Amino acid sequence: MTQPAWLARAVFYQIYPQSFYDANGDGIGDLAGIEAKLDYLADLGVNALWINPCFVSPFKDAGYDVADHDSIAPRYGTHADFVRLLAQAHRRGMRICLDLVAGHTSDQHPWFVESQRSAANDFTQRYIWTNNPWVRRDEELDFISGTSDRSGAYATNFFAHQPALNYGFGQPTRSYQQDVDAPGPSATRAALRQTMKYWLDLGVDGFRVDLAGSLVKRDPEHFGVRRLWREIRAWLDANYQDRVLISEWGNPEIAIDAGFHVDFMQHVGVPGYDALMLGPDSFPKRRELPYFDSRGNGDFRRFWRSFEFQQRRVAGRGLISLPSSNHDFVRPRHQRDFDDLKVLYAFLFTWPQLPCLYYGDEIGMRYVEGLTSKEGGYERTGSRTPMQWDDSALAGFSTDPGATPYLPIDPQNDRPTVAAQRADRNSLWHHVERLIYLRVTESDLAPDASLTLLTENSGYPLVYRRGGSLIVALNPGLDTHTLELPPLGDAAAVLAQRCQVMHGPTGWRLRIGARGYGVFTVS
Ligand code: NOJ
Repeated sequence: MTQPAWLARAVFYQIYPQSFYDANGDGIGDLAGIEAKLDYLADLGVNALWINPCFVSPFKDAGYDVADHDSIAPRYGTHADFVRLLAQAHRRGMRICLDLVAGHTSDQHPWFVESQRSAANDFTQRYIWTNNPWVRRDEELDFISGTSDRSGAYATNFFAHQPALNYGFGQPTRSYQQDVDAPGPSATRAALRQTMKYWLDLGVDGFRVDLAGSLVKRDPEHFGVRRLWREIRAWLDANYQDRVLISEWGNPEIAIDAGFHVDFMQHVGVPGYDALMLGPDSFPKRRELPYFDSRGNGDFRRFWRSFEFQQRRVAGRGLISLPSSNHDFVRPRHQRDFDDLKVLYAFLFTWPQLPCLYYGDEIGMRYVEGLTSKEGGYERTGSRTPMQWDDSALAGFSTDPGATPYLPIDPQNDRPTVAAQRADRNSLWHHVERLIYLRVTESDLAPDASLTLLTENSGYPLVYRRGGSLIVALNPGLDTHTLELPPLGDAAAVLAQRCQVMHGPTGWRLRIGARGYGVFTVS
């Protein structure tokens, strides 16, 4: 299985459509708004977009409750708007990946409406139903009953209104649990492929797959779900070259083996991600401080052990992605200032992984605390507030300054904006722009270029070599460090802040101050 060549230089940008830019003045972001900002995204340098679900939905989980897979939600625009957005993105060499909510639908989806009927029909087996309405929990599944006349209970995947689609059970033990090859699960797989085909035929460049690892239930070794995705990957390779599958799985070894091109190594409890960026004040919460924390107690080994293990298993076959954050997590700005973020981002864009920037993280938008939950966001709501474009009304989020925005704008007076940061050469925005440029143009930063750690990988600083000619040094902490390193060649700083290399008789002497970073080419 080959990787599409474009992935090696891809820098993704995640757009939460309701909060990005409101072009029609109704207070909710839309597809025309994304189109209007394509030049902005091209200026920043990103070359691939992942758009959160933009399909018809009652929006009880912000669109992860799909009620019609093949139709754009009217609040975001029309089918024609999507086709135009795709063409405009492609014209700029930018790819678009959609969100494929494969594991469940809304309880308002016509399939589920049919499935709830007591009389058997084509959708009776589309979801997981027991024959007994009194089941509440069985093995790892939660069940709901009492919502229809069908004498049974349906399994949920996430919230109660998200019935689990029936892809079968890897090891069925109960009468209601069907084998993956039974007619019900086979029809569900065909329907999933039909949805994918619909968007692929329009020209979309791939999918981020929601909860990708959990489609087949009672599947302890993931054999059933791996088979499902491998079949889809083979079909994709045969019919749609250059398109990609990106999983929300959090286990690259298994996800890449299942046929995904990329896995987000990012679930709760995956030390590869949470030991880097999440801490006691984050959600999800971790007990220890993360490595990128100026309080300086982080331990790089926690991340390294996990990453190295996964990286060795996927090398040459697929990529790991460590996103800046996303709509489910606290933003990286939380408990960090711009200097902290610059060090963290220098890591994310020089590490062998697929960078994915969550909208607004390029300017260090805050996690807004204390918001009332919106559309099933709960504590995630604070990471989903409207993009801050400038200092006009509503931070320039809407064409109608009098609109009621989807969520409140960050109320703080010093909220960061795109306009202010673009005007300041030392801003986080320009730092990100430079890092993206480096990432895209330096072949030594391609995900498959080699990585060699040059420091003991516990405390600060962290120094590593990428490919033949790049050295990166990072110090997330507040102490200054001087480090003796072997001769690594003549150094030229590409990007450096409070970080210098001196050439001594025995090699390099690297001095790095509080929250310093340096990227050097060596010759
Ligand atoms: C993961 C998505 O990222 C999250 O926002 C959603 O609520 C759940 N999956 C359920 O679809």
